[in-house]
Amino acid sequence: MRQIWITRAGPPEVLQVKEAPDPQPKAGEVRIRVEASGINFADILGRMGLYPDLPPIPVVPGYEVGGQVDAVGTGVDGAWIGRDVLALTRFGGYADMVCVPTQQVFVRPPDLSALEGAAIPVNYLTAWQLIVVMGGLKRGETVLVHSAGGGVGIAATQIAKQLGARVIGTASAAKHAELRALGVDHLIDYRTEDFETRTREITGGRGVELILDPLGGDSWKKGYRLLAPTGRLGAFGASALASGKERSILGMLGVLARVPWFQFNPLALMNANKGVFGVNLGHMWGEGERLRQWADHLLELWAQGVVKPKIARTFRFDEAPLAHHFIQDRGNIGKVLLVP
Ligand SMILES: NC(=O)c1ccc[n+]([C@@H]2O[C@H](COP(=O)([O-])OP(=O)(O)OC[C@H]3O[C@@H](n4cnc5c(N)ncnc54)[C@H](OP(=O)(O)O)[C@@H]3O)[C@@H](O)[C@H]2O)c1
Repeated sequence: MRQIWITRAGPPEVLQVKEAPDPQPKAGEVRIRVEASGINFADILGRMGLYPDLPPIPVVPGYEVGGQVDAVGTGVDGAWIGRDVLALTRFGGYADMVCVPTQQVFVRPPDLSALEGAAIPVNYLTAWQLIVVMGGLKRGETVLVHSAGGGVGIAATQIAKQLGARVIGTASAAKHAELRALGVDHLIDYRTEDFETRTREITGGRGVELILDPLGGDSWKKGYRLLAPTGRLGAFGASALASGKERSILGMLGVLARVPWFQFNPLALMNANKGVFGVNLGHMWGEGERLRQWADHLLELWAQGVVKPKIARTFRFDEAPLAHHFIQDRGNIGKVLLVP
């Protein structure tokens, strides 16, 4: 098989394709012939040496794939062989073959391509947990979605619009026209406008009921101020840590210094009628049954045309460094995939 390795912490060029013996599925696992692997921002932070959950480098990253089962381990029904699937992988997804426990594998409906399938698991499960499970977004409420042009951002917009909510999105200006067409009601170019000021203007000073914030640092502080009574702030990432393409200790300390460590205390939350919560899908492995229920529901929404994965671009395995550059240069509108 071929795998893409993070050979050392560093810029995108540290990603290298290597050959390895084909893996054999263990008990309870299936082996998937991968047709597409999803790239997530966590892989980028991992490559830079900024993601504590990543196993020690050198490592094959990758949280999700689409493909077809071609072998099963002991105890697994042989009927799995030949099934088209999508799967969550606990690393190792940047490969043309991967073995995965059956609990993390979902059968792909006939019309759902492997590419679209690989674009669903992380982005849509994260958006679902943020908006529906923990954010409790309701019809008529307003949600502020940061990085609205990214994989999670587009998934979040589709789910929020289906619920009848209003979406304010932040994104680089070049993405605004396309994001408007994808359903975002108001767009803010956070690079030239202050998102806090603009959100207040858009909402007539009221603020918003839900914020999805994967940036970190002082945007959590601004977001908290922007919450209307009963508003909820969902923190789910720290992309601000990626100030360049290699780790910068100074940059990291700057972001950490701007985190509002002491503002969200129980008394402040109570008196302001605000809520703050966190989401990390990578820490939900012990909740396999719930993830399966959410995934089943998302696949139903796919059949209804609500979930519509948007693929920004695909890259061959040997172009993996270009794929990471593309995302870090803020070029993607939607999901970026690797194809073997
Ligand atoms: N907690 C979880 O379970 C979980 C799961 C999935 C993703 N996440 C987080 O959600 C965020 C989005 O993830 P994604 O995989 O869907 O990626 P993505 O949105 O495709 O990320 C790329 C986009 O993020 C924006 N961005 C913001 N800060 C950036 C920076 N410092 N460097 C480069 N781009 C930056 C850029 O768009 P604009 O310039 O247009 O804003 C860029 O195009 C990431 O922070 C990720 O870690 C968390």
